[in-house]
Amino acid sequence: MAVTPGLVLAAVACAMCLLPVLVRAQLQVGFYQRTCPNAETLVRQAVATAFAKDAGIAAGLIRLHFHDCFVRGCDASVLLATNPGGGKTERQAIPNNPSLRGFEVIDAAKASIEQSCPSTVSCADILAFAARDSITLTGNVFYPVPAGRRDGSVSKEQDALDNLPPPTFTAQQLIDRFKNKTLTAEEMVLLSGAHTVGRSFCASFVKRIWNGTTPIVDAGLSPSYAALLRSLCPSSTTQTTLITTAMDPGSPDVLDNNYYKLLPRNMGLFFSDNQLRVDGNLNALVNTFAANETMWKERFAAAMVKMGRIEVQTGRCGQVRLKCSVVNPNSSPSSVELASVDEEGVIATS
Ligand code: HEM
Ligand SMILES: *[C@@H]1O[C@H](CO)[C@@H](O)[C@H](O)[C@H]1NC(C)=O
Ligand SMILES: *[C@@H]1O[C@H](CO)[C@@H](O)[C@H](O)[C@H]1NC(C)=O
Ligand SMILES: *[C@@H]1O[C@H](CO)[C@@H](O)[C@H](O)[C@H]1NC(C)=O
Repeated sequence: MAVTPGLVLAAVACAMCLLPVLVRAQLQVGFYQRTCPNAETLVRQAVATAFAKDAGIAAGLIRLHFHDCFVRGCDASVLLATNPGGGKTERQAIPNNPSLRGFEVIDAAKASIEQSCPSTVSCADILAFAARDSITLTGNVFYPVPAGRRDGSVSKEQDALDNLPPPTFTAQQLIDRFKNKTLTAEEMVLLSGAHTVGRSFCASFVKRIWNGTTPIVDAGLSPSYAALLRSLCPSSTTQTTLITTAMDPGSPDVLDNNYYKLLPRNMGLFFSDNQLRVDGNLNALVNTFAANETMWKERFAAAMVKMGRIEVQTGRCGQVRLKCSVVNPNSSPSSVELASVDEEGVIATS
């Protein structure tokens, strides 16, 4: 294939997008003030409508934003139903399937925004707003969301497997993974408090309660809690077993600091949750947040904002998707990762 000037330009534009964050445009609070003043209101309405039908959707949206940001940055790659380059998507990866939820809420918000201001508000920003609104609905916490993210055009199963922390991670692995995403150990502990809302499928903790068909005695799991979990989740549980349980059994739809109170009672659901107690430095933070909910909420909101800045594309990089589950038709080569150019080895891609 001949390398046309258009392709070269696209390649240069793409390379610019890979420059360090310092020389690129930054996210801004009120980014859509002039171009789409009701963008945030329309997202809030879509989230509120869905929340009224199913409060659990809030947890789903908070996690969706997290899983977006940790894989290729906050670029809505998690929302893509197909990968233009072929192969399985992030959505299809085990950490996301079947557990991720809230896609249809983002689609509804996007549809109403497209009617008011076509081709203006990115799916990555809609997701960041929706996560914030979910936190407001469940935790009565509001924080302004810096916006201006652009949407990516690539979604790969392997990227999700490589970047999302599994519930089998040790304290050190969790710290390292968050550090790799610019987040500190304290921010890791702060953000883990999101497990005060929502649910988990049995597969994510079954290895803590069953060894084959024999009950496991795990010093980090309360015997009565383990017995309850065993009564819920059969020893034959697999990735496709569709039984779920609340992570904070007392108040799964309330964003409070109960997560940090459950941990010392050996009621952290995942091995990874319990790791926050096993490490002395992390455990000190757990105790601090268990003792002061106001402090946790303030710092949790700040950590969410920081998470929302991970590896974002801004300015002319990426695209504003028209539908959040598909890349725009006629995307330029730069936005489909220069797939054809790459195949011929002419230009390296991101
Ligand atoms: C520290 C590392 C983390 C690990 C290992 C982890 C792991 C998990 C797992 C295994 C589930 C259950 C998935 C299933 O249904 O099987 C889950 C659910 C959830 N996680 Fe995390 N997570 C982590 C951090 C976070 C962060 C940083 C957030 C958000 C700020 C978050 C928010 C949530 C929420 C809200 C749910 C419930 C989702 C729902 O009800 O639909 N998690 N997490
Ligand atoms: C995160 O890890 C990837 C690959 O392992 C590496 O290329 C990247 O530089 C790391 N980022 C940070 C901020 O440590
Ligand atoms: C599970 O059981 C087998 C044999 O019964 C034993 O060798 C193994 O150590 C057990 N594993 C765990 C995690 O308890
Ligand atoms: C809890 O934290 C808040 C905010 O960080 C602080 O103003 C307040 O004094 C703390 N409360 C207690 C009881 O320490």
